[in-house]
Amino acid sequence: MTPLKILVLNGPNLNLLGQREPAVYGHTTLADVEALCQAAAAERGAEVECRQSNHEGVLIDWVQAAGAAYRAGELAGVVFNPGAYTHTSVALHDAIKGSGVPVIETHISNVHAREAFRHHSHISPAAAGIVVGFGVDGYVLAIDGLLRKARAAQA
Ligand code: DQA
Repeated sequence: MTPLKILVLNGPNLNLLGQREPAVYGHTTLADVEALCQAAAAERGAEVECRQSNHEGVLIDWVQAAGAAYRAGELAGVVFNPGAYTHTSVALHDAIKGSGVPVIETHISNVHAREAFRHHSHISPAAAGIVVGFGVDGYVLAIDGLLRKARAAQA
């Protein structure tokens, strides 16, 4: 059986993890996060592909392509930290809805305990699940949750 595949997407400024506001986001780099995701997936008999972009349109293209891969049975879903686009992007909401791919919205920080402009998410109404405030462990929780959903759907 081919292992379940997950796409891990990170949006704007997440390439700066490790140097960016360490009091909020910690000292872990994006490369560390991606290695954590690879290990978590492998432990669970799955595989991940990790990508990061600072550009909304690129993220939209990737979500659309993920929808096609999901429909083809090649992808279980997407773990997605959209960064600040969470709070601004109707286009990413539409891409998730339109593509039909299950997305687990993931945030390192607890956005609800921060500035008011971070309290609203355009992504949450289109997401299959949400992980918020567990630091970078949230990516592992999201991978676990997505795999559980995918395997429950297969059973
Ligand atoms: C973030 C929270 C967002 O509000 C912020 O713009 C980010 C990171 C998080 O992971 O906590 O870039 O998505």
